[in-house]
Amino acid sequence: MDSSEDLRAGDVARHGWAHGRLPLPTEGDDWHRFTAAWDDLVPDAYLGPARCRRNRRYGRVLAHRDGTLEPLLGTEFFQSKQINRAFGDQLRVFEPLTDKALTSCRFSEILQESVGLVNEAAGDRDWELGVHFIRVIAEPDEGSEPAPEGRHSDGHEYVAIHLIGRHHCVGGESQVFRRGEERVEHSVTMTEPLEALVLSDTTMEHAVSEIRTEDRSVPGWRDTMIVDFNTVQDLTEVNGRTHSSLQALSLF
Ligand SMILES: [Fe+2]
Repeated sequence: MDSSEDLRAGDVARHGWAHGRLPLPTEGDDWHRFTAAWDDLVPDAYLGPARCRRNRRYGRVLAHRDGTLEPLLGTEFFQSKQINRAFGDQLRVFEPLTDKALTSCRFSEILQESVGLVNEAAGDRDWELGVHFIRVIAEPDEGSEPAPEGRHSDGHEYVAIHLIGRHHCVGGESQVFRRGEERVEHSVTMTEPLEALVLSDTTMEHAVSEIRTEDRSVPGWRDTMIVDFNTVQDLTEVNGRTHSSLQALSLF
């Protein structure tokens, strides 16, 4: 599949995954203001001995079926050991997304596009979204693994992995597998800003190979925005409701 093709909801519905680009601009002031958020991430405090260096922030957003995006309070994140053999069975509390990132128009546009695509594939629902801003960093003498847990699914219903950018790095090949099957169903090294993989996390698994620096004198990094989709059955049970809209953050 050509990376310049738009993402297609039909691919997610038929195959369980789609690869393509979001139809949004990736230059100009709005884009640069948005991507500056990746220079303002903080080291992941839960890495232990993993062969990985990454900075991150995390936020939660309620995506109502009428299109409203409601920012949620709280940045606790939990996966079982069954789901995440490297970092599971611990409550991880990440630093929140900054107001500057939340109020970026590109941020809400990316969420709206992603939610629209998943709703087209899965049927309109209310979704609780987990939004991860992640920078994986390789030093000149040491590679870094974007996904130290290896081949995995993340324990959600859908996952959208958006490439934001790459800086002096090679590697970082994404592989998509059908659960229970050995063979790689799709592999791609995403290079274009807002190139993305959207996966049914219940039927597919994914892995990402390590990144290394492009030359031996400077660090390299790979920036992604990962969006987890979890169906909300009962809006009254969602923690951290703000009853405000990302489009009207002065209320927040
Ligand atoms: Fe993952």
